[in-house]
Amino acid sequence: MTLRFNPCALSLSVLLSVPLFMPQAAAQPALFKDADLKLGAQLIAQNNCDSCHQKRVGGDGSAMYKPLGRINTPGFLRGMVEQCNTELNLGFFPEEVTAVAAVLNRDHYKFK
Ligand code: HEC
Repeated sequence: MTLRFNPCALSLSVLLSVPLFMPQAAAQPALFKDADLKLGAQLIAQNNCDSCHQKRVGGDGSAMYKPLGRINTPGFLRGMVEQCNTELNLGFFPEEVTAVAAVLNRDHYKFK
């Protein structure tokens, strides 16, 4: 993935547009309502998120996700994924960051 873009400018507009799209099924916070969960799960698998986390915490790697830790809001969770995106140079688009964060929320953090 070599595609470059300015994450800050783009993610702001996506963030602002999210609440305009109304309900889908599951109990997800407004920030993740419009997220593509299938895409998010696919990106998590493709980018070895869990295998790297496994090396640190063992098991299936999910112990890395600490819902009661410092990440305690949907916005913070999305911000953490954005940070990984930048640090690991993954080249995610803003809607991909949102999708990944939404899957982590559904499966681990469960913020409302
Ligand atoms: C090269 C190894 C590596 C890869 C690949 C990686 N991570 Fe991480 N991740 C870490 C480490 C190490 C931490 C702990 C950082 C800390 O506690 O400061 C972490 C922490 C996190 C956290 C914070 C957990 C919490 O509740 O505090 C999230 C969320 C996260 N990673 C998401 C991802 C996602 C999503 C991907 C894939 C797109 C990913 N990571 C890929 C190493 C990795």
